[in-house]
Amino acid sequence: MNTKLHHIVTTEHFTRQWLEQVFNRANQFIADGFVHTLPNKIVATCFFEPSTRTRLSFTSAAHRLGAEVLGFDNSTSTSTSKGESLEDTVRMVSNYADVIVLRHPEIGSAERAAQVATVPVINAGDGAHAHPTQTLVDLFAIKQGLGKLDDFTILMIGDIEHSRVVHSLSATLKLFNNVEQILINPVEQDYKPHLATADIVLMTRVQTERFSTQREADQLKQAYGLSVEDVQQMKPTARIIAPLPRTTELPTSIDALPQAYYFQQASFAVPVRAALLEYVLEVWQ
Ligand code: NCD
Repeated sequence: MNTKLHHIVTTEHFTRQWLEQVFNRANQFIADGFVHTLPNKIVATCFFEPSTRTRLSFTSAAHRLGAEVLGFDNSTSTSTSKGESLEDTVRMVSNYADVIVLRHPEIGSAERAAQVATVPVINAGDGAHAHPTQTLVDLFAIKQGLGKLDDFTILMIGDIEHSRVVHSLSATLKLFNNVEQILINPVEQDYKPHLATADIVLMTRVQTERFSTQREADQLKQAYGLSVEDVQQMKPTARIIAPLPRTTELPTSIDALPQAYYFQQASFAVPVRAALLEYVLEVWQ
């Protein structure tokens, strides 16, 4: 791997100081608007798995910064369907763009891409493994919602095993002080007794696509869902976050409650990913 390139493959290189720089830059965009800091740059979005928010917020962020975007949103129209390897695809796209945003169903795919790419690779999700840029959005939302990133309790409910969102966030929260993490698979454990103590509740959907049988996925899906009564047990200052999309775990009946924060959270994706694009393309160090 070319270590000079700023690949974002997992969260393992995140530091508190770097995260604060990203968040300060995102806050500048929110306060002052976007400026064209990436003219003449090309961002490639290579998505081998479905996406709405991640791909479109990267695309929007790139446009806001004056960059061009190319790419694909499923692999059926690419040479992957002719048997081309991920490595060869990434080698080619390195010739066409200045950064590659990659989503792929295989664990380790982003790392493999970074080994051969001659431009920075940003992991936009590799199977059940990691989703480092969602972690940036999650942390930014926690900071905006609670006003701090230390001294709080986070309850993560859902498909803990298959959620790359949970894996990456949980690893990164270790950088902060006095953060209590309670991770609950609702088939195994009741989350309701924890609702009153949580400052943040992260809801994740069942990753049905990663189960070997539909029956197991359905069993987990039926085990949870936040009701209005559940949310009313939470602290008034607590915040519910979620990467989205939602299924049954977040009914629309709770959307208007003050703890519901997931749509505000989603709105942070563009400024946060804009700050990240600037970093990997060395607008700031
Ligand atoms: C998540 C993902 O793709 O891992 N979505 C997202 O990026 N906003 C969560 C999910 O699909 O459930």
